[in-house]
Parts: sequence; C-alpha cells; structure tokens
Amino acid sequence: MKTRTLWRGASIAAMTPDRPWGWIEDGALLTDGDRIEWIGRADDLPAGLDVHIEHRLSGGVITPGLIDAHTHLVYGGHRAREFELRLQGASYEDIARAGGGIRSTVTATRGATEVELLRDATRRARCLIAEGVTTIEIKSGYGLSFADEARCLRVARRIGEQLPLTVRTTALAAHAVPPEFEGRADDYIDAVCGWLPGWHAQGLVDAVDGFCESIAFSPAQIERVFNAARALGLPVKLHAEQLTDSGGALLAARHGALSADHLEHLGSDGVQAMAQAGTVAMLLPGAYYFLRDTHLPPVQALRDAGVPMAVATDHNPGSSPTLSPLLMLNMACTLFRLTPEEALAGMTRHAAQALGLSQTHGQLTPGRRADFALWHIDHPNELAYRFGHNPCAQVVWGGRPGKE
Ligand code: NIG
Ligand code: FE
Repeated sequence: MKTRTLWRGASIAAMTPDRPWGWIEDGALLTDGDRIEWIGRADDLPAGLDVHIEHRLSGGVITPGLIDAHTHLVYGGHRAREFELRLQGASYEDIARAGGGIRSTVTATRGATEVELLRDATRRARCLIAEGVTTIEIKSGYGLSFADEARCLRVARRIGEQLPLTVRTTALAAHAVPPEFEGRADDYIDAVCGWLPGWHAQGLVDAVDGFCESIAFSPAQIERVFNAARALGLPVKLHAEQLTDSGGALLAARHGALSADHLEHLGSDGVQAMAQAGTVAMLLPGAYYFLRDTHLPPVQALRDAGVPMAVATDHNPGSSPTLSPLLMLNMACTLFRLTPEEALAGMTRHAAQALGLSQTHGQLTPGRRADFALWHIDHPNELAYRFGHNPCAQVVWGGRPGKE
C-alpha cells in the first residue's frame, strides 16, 4: 500500500530533549503508514523520495500529539451540586465523608447503561482530540465492583477502537470503599486483589492505580494492591499526597511506579525516592484550581532532583471537570510556575514516559508513531500562553489526518 506522506511548510517542535523544544525551523516530516520515516529541515529533505501524498502547509507549528496521561473519563452523572456546596464552605473531604464525592458518582455510574457510559465518554474524548490529543489514559474507579469496573474498562477500550486515539486503561478499583463494604476497607482491598486477575485475563488492564489518602486507603492497603498488580506483571501508579502527606510517593517509588500523581503535599523524602526510582511526577493543576487548594506541589525540588514532570487534565466529575488540556498547560505555568516548554514536555515526552510509552510516543523522531498536531501559532510557547482559545488546525493519528 502506498502510504508515504510528506508534510512541509510548518516549523516543528519535535520535543526531543537535545535542544529547546526540539525545534526545527521550516521543517518537513515524512510518514510511512503509522510511523515517522524522516524529520528535519525542509532544505535537507533527501532527493528523489517516493512520496505518495504531499501536504503543503502555510505556516504554523507541528508538535507531537498531546498525551493526557491521567483521566477518569468514564462515569455517570455530574457533581455540579457539590460544586455549589463547596462554594458555600463545605470541603471536598467533608463531602466525601458524608457519602457524597466519589461515592455519589459510583451510584450514578452503576445506574447508567454501558451504551450511555460509552456515549458520554466518547463525547468527552472528542473534546480532547479537538485540542490536539492523540493518546489518553482512562481510569476506572467509579464502578467499584468486579462487574462495574469491568464495564468501565470495556468502555475505555471501546473508545480506543472507535476514535482516532490511543487509549491506555488503568484499573483504579482502590479509589474509594463502596457502600457494600462500608467499614470494611481491608475486606474491599482483598476483593480488589482477587478481581485483578479476572480483568487482566480479559485484556482490560494496562496499569493499576490507587488513591492513597486519609479519606481513601492507607499505604499498607495500597501496597497489597500493588503486590497483586506486580504479580500479574502490571505497572503501577498512585494518587499520592493530594490532600495530606501520607507516604504514598515513597510507596509508589518503592514499587517502581510509572508515576505518582497530584503531589501537592509531597515532602523532600518523596522527591528523592521518585528521582531514584524514575517515577514521573504527574501534576494536575485542574484539581488544584477547582478544589481551591493553596498548597503548591514542590516543583522546584522536583526540577532540582531531575524528576520528569508530566501535566494532565485529571478529567473527573468531582475535582477536575475540565476537558481542556490547553488550559492545563496554561495553569501549569500560571499556578505551578512551570515554563511553557516544561508544560508542553509534560503533555508530550514526559506524559509518554508516565504511560510507559516513551519509546514510541511523545516525541517526533524517525521510528516513533506519526501522532502529531498542527497549530495556528508562530511559536510553541503560545500553547501555554493563551487560555480559553484553541488554535489546533489539524490532528494526525498514526499518520492519518483527522479534521482539516
Ligand atoms: O484524581 N483523587 C482522587 N480521584 C480523583 C477525584 C475523584 C472524584 O472526586 O470523583 C482525582 O482528583
Ligand atoms: Fe485522578
């Protein structure tokens, strides 16, 4: 099949770590099927190439497709009422302890049909694609039974089959104690460990996550889930240090986790452990903003220790109901003081690392996947600079153009 496609006429932020932005002025990109065959200055294009399709662009910047490496995209209902309660003074923890929060979304998710869950999650995924996203992670965590978690993971898989999008699934059954296990968190953790092999056998799980927090599970409980995951050869990651310093990052690092996520209350011991383990720090400014948090994650300490920082939407109905990865780039800079280049690396190269996909995704180099976005901008720092504005002109997934 003739599938060699040449893209030229734009500059390229390849996001390789060798130079700022992996910048290529007046670039050219040759794809063959779903892979990049050649990338460089248009002037340096080898002569006599057998090109089947040529796209002559009139300016703009090409970046790797954005990677949203932390989402809870599959759920029923919404939590706008809780938003009102929080504005009146109730805290996220108060609402959770009173049986609202994650549990209320569990009720709505269990009450939705698989068709409804797929329809709603598909709409959300399309919003992400419209802002240049080509890969997402989707967590379960609102089913909290064997069958309901499996249903949500199936929906996540289906999204990857139906849309021009790579989907990595994460089992987050250790998200909250479901009502039928009230007061029996340890029994619930036993159940989760027992369910994992079944989901894994159905091909539903790429990684395993947990919520390590005073209102959720202790490090000892999460460790049992991690042991069960690792016995199956599955990588782990963790919601850690979001509301308190519970030692989650230390635990995650000890288990070689792909990422530790949130980290507003991360201490220096956790930073060092993550640096040594190669665990990515997944920063989630949407949740920080929406919960009106004031305790910043230790960005300078992470930077000094050389911990790769990723940025994601954390899309979920309770703490981060955003579907704008571009807004997260802006907030990563304005709220967390990342540089615009760090923010974009956080949604490309480092996000790929957080999903275990760094060999194939997150940078534009020969051999890697031809997942990229074309933007109506002059310089990639504009992606973090604007907010509430989407300059995405074109998304290409596996060499295949989406919207023109
Ligand atoms: O990433 N922290 C735990 N989980 C989600 C929020 C879940 C919810 O409130 O529904 C998060 O912020
Ligand atoms: Fe989350």
